[in-house]
Amino acid sequence: MTARITPLIAGNWKMNGLTAALGELQRLGELLTAGTAPRCTVAVCPPATLLARVSAQVAVSGIVTGGQDCHPAQSGAHTGDISAAMLADAGAQFVIVGHSERRTDHGETDSLVHAKALAAVAAGLTPIICVGETEAQRRGGEAAAVVRRQIAASVPDEAQGIDVVIAYEPVWAIGTGLTPSLEDIRDMHGGIRAQLVERFGAAGERIRILYGGSMKPANARDILAVENVDGGLVGGASLLANDFYAIISAV
Ligand code: 13P
Repeated sequence: MTARITPLIAGNWKMNGLTAALGELQRLGELLTAGTAPRCTVAVCPPATLLARVSAQVAVSGIVTGGQDCHPAQSGAHTGDISAAMLADAGAQFVIVGHSERRTDHGETDSLVHAKALAAVAAGLTPIICVGETEAQRRGGEAAAVVRRQIAASVPDEAQGIDVVIAYEPVWAIGTGLTPSLEDIRDMHGGIRAQLVERFGAAGERIRILYGGSMKPANARDILAVENVDGGLVGGASLLANDFYAIISAV
């Protein structure tokens, strides 16, 4: 944790969630309002089809919402795409950009992710910019260099004066039950912090750096205690109210 930053725990539902998932979300809201106030911002990023309903439902429990992706343009002839302004209009405060699944499934490049982050900011959203190395890159000793390159090219210069969030998600840890050692997380987050401060000065000290990849109730407390881990981007475990609440409570 970085003492001066309010941590963020964000749930990324990915391509999961039909209307029935709203019941589980209701349960999360009940847990949050019954327990002690969370020591972090809690966000859920449902599929776009549920975003407006989720935003309306969670407002009472203090949860905020985010989209999972946005198009770099404000509007126009882009069938099937969703603009940052549409997400904001549906109640979102955040949007995930450059998730490794988008980089892999849709060939998204750092420069596209950069454009999406700028579009998010223009629409009043906080982008959660995802970076992370593959298993082969980690084995080849390139993890730090890969992440450094991704951050250099994906994070806009404008991050100096605005709210952006970085999510370090090693690709090999996503959905696998594997996580890096706490030392590896500390080294990577420390390197990201140094890069942000080098580039943005004091503003770089305030940018939240989340960890993502198989974060679960069983490992959340240890991971969240690592220096420069300012919260988590949670996939699978965010779909279950009890698990997600346990992670929120680990902050
Ligand atoms: P899991 O928590 O399911 O590993 O997913 C992490 C992730 O990709 C969040 O964006």
